[in-house]
Amino acid sequence: MSEYAIQMLGITKTFPGIVANDNVTLEVKKNEVHAILGENGAGKSTLMSVLFGSYAPDAGRILINGKEVKITNPNVATSLGIGMVHQHFKLVHNYTVTENIVLGREPKKGLVLSLGEAEKKVAMLSEKYGLQVDPRAKIEDITVGQQQRVEILKTLYSDSDIIILDEPTAVLTPQEIDELMDIIKLLQKEGKTIVIITHKLREIKAVANRCTILRRGKSVGCIDILPETSEQELATLMVGRPVRFDVDKKPFHPGKAILEVQNICVNDSVGIEKVHDFSIDVHAGEIVGIAGVDGNGQTELLYAISGLSPVTKGRILLNGQDITNKTIRERIEMGLGHIPEDRHRHGMVGGLTIAENTVLKDFYTDKYTGKFGILKNDAIYKNSDALIEQFDVRSGQGSITPAGSLSGGNQQKVIIAREISLSPDVLLVAQPTRGLDVGAIEYIRKRIIGEREAGKAILLVSFELDEIMSLCDRIAAISKGSVVGIFNEGEKTASEIGLMMAGVKNAKAGA
Ligand SMILES: Nc1ncnc2c1ncn2[C@@H]1O[C@H](COP(=O)(O)OP(=O)(O)OP(=O)(O)O)[C@@H](O)[C@H]1O
Ligand SMILES: [Mg+2]
Repeated sequence: MSEYAIQMLGITKTFPGIVANDNVTLEVKKNEVHAILGENGAGKSTLMSVLFGSYAPDAGRILINGKEVKITNPNVATSLGIGMVHQHFKLVHNYTVTENIVLGREPKKGLVLSLGEAEKKVAMLSEKYGLQVDPRAKIEDITVGQQQRVEILKTLYSDSDIIILDEPTAVLTPQEIDELMDIIKLLQKEGKTIVIITHKLREIKAVANRCTILRRGKSVGCIDILPETSEQELATLMVGRPVRFDVDKKPFHPGKAILEVQNICVNDSVGIEKVHDFSIDVHAGEIVGIAGVDGNGQTELLYAISGLSPVTKGRILLNGQDITNKTIRERIEMGLGHIPEDRHRHGMVGGLTIAENTVLKDFYTDKYTGKFGILKNDAIYKNSDALIEQFDVRSGQGSITPAGSLSGGNQQKVIIAREISLSPDVLLVAQPTRGLDVGAIEYIRKRIIGEREAGKAILLVSFELDEIMSLCDRIAAISKGSVVGIFNEGEKTASEIGLMMAGVKNAKAGA
């Protein structure tokens, strides 16, 4: 019997203009938790898609449990006991949890679909592995964290022994991450082999036994994760240079209020009030952070300011002008920028090129449109080439690459590049570093601070308290759609802020 569950030997996979995997070897021992680490665009998702049969490699061999196999499509992978939870989930939103889990192998009695048995099995698995979710709930009604549980249940339902998790924590809140780490440990205890892709070094330290590192399509090596392995060491191996985790910030000299949010109330899409009597000012040269647990109104707050949702009460001023009822384009023209939480829905158009995405907000201006409405392609490409260079966007074909073919982290870089390059007076920023590698995070944080130093007003929403605490000059802790406390940088500890986020007013740690 082989000691390895997975051996991918000398895998090469090319896309137009890029070798995504260049003679990569990955060996995963049976029953280990194996992490894959690498910069955005290093080829991690591609390698796992080859293993799952979504892409055919140009060269290389794959052995599962010591036996050479040809994984020509995902059904072959499933029959070999391989399950995958993709970076961007693949669930049908108006189907129930169980319907999604049995999709493609629906249990039938005669010709009639019979979901009863399946629901029982789903309930049993969710109990056994601590993956709480209602088997009859519709996907569109459950949280992202629960959707991910459905994806994991799907792999368990088909009796997968090997489970691949591609950036499972990028979309989770800190609490959900802790829960997922426990689930992974339980799966390992039950005998599963797990491959996890993550940019969060803390998570690798928490669950992984070994880690394979990819850099620009090549494997740099595989290391044991020992108690003494440091995050700095992992970061250096991955990026090829030391990375700084702290940020340099000059003293804070705020100017006048640029964004004024006055007593607003906002409903969600089904009419439930999510933001209640909310007020906040953001001054020139200041970063204000919103710290809160997911689902406490952050999303609706930014929707209202950016114009994606109306307010039911209150007003919003930008540079002293009322924008409460302005259209999205008017707000943009008045100086509002937005790095949205959901990059696919509000940030980019996957079918358009990188160049087209970088001018989505100002293509119609004189800068990019000439006489008779003809686009000035030279100017568009010049702008886009420069942004690709500055923000280190890695792609196969530069400016003409379709944005949808970029790796997750590189898509995020394109959106941030566009928004920062427009240098708006107010920049709304939601989860800016989600899915980015540590090197890219270092750069993006520097650029956000650069905007602050250029006198811009920045409102930052992040579930990562570390991010809020290291970037922000003032922090508003929110709970159930209202501000529970607002204070200056350094005034409160992380645990005090955590208590406030849980709804405790004027919290003092230990009190
Ligand atoms: N379907 C595709 N068509 C064209 N190019 C692709 C496709 N899929 C991936 N690529 C390219 O292959 C390279 C590797 O991408 P991959 O998605 O594997 O990176 P990754 O390591 O998962 O990055 P991230 O951390 O950002 O998710 C990237 O440069 C990407 O642009
Ligand atoms: Mg990826």
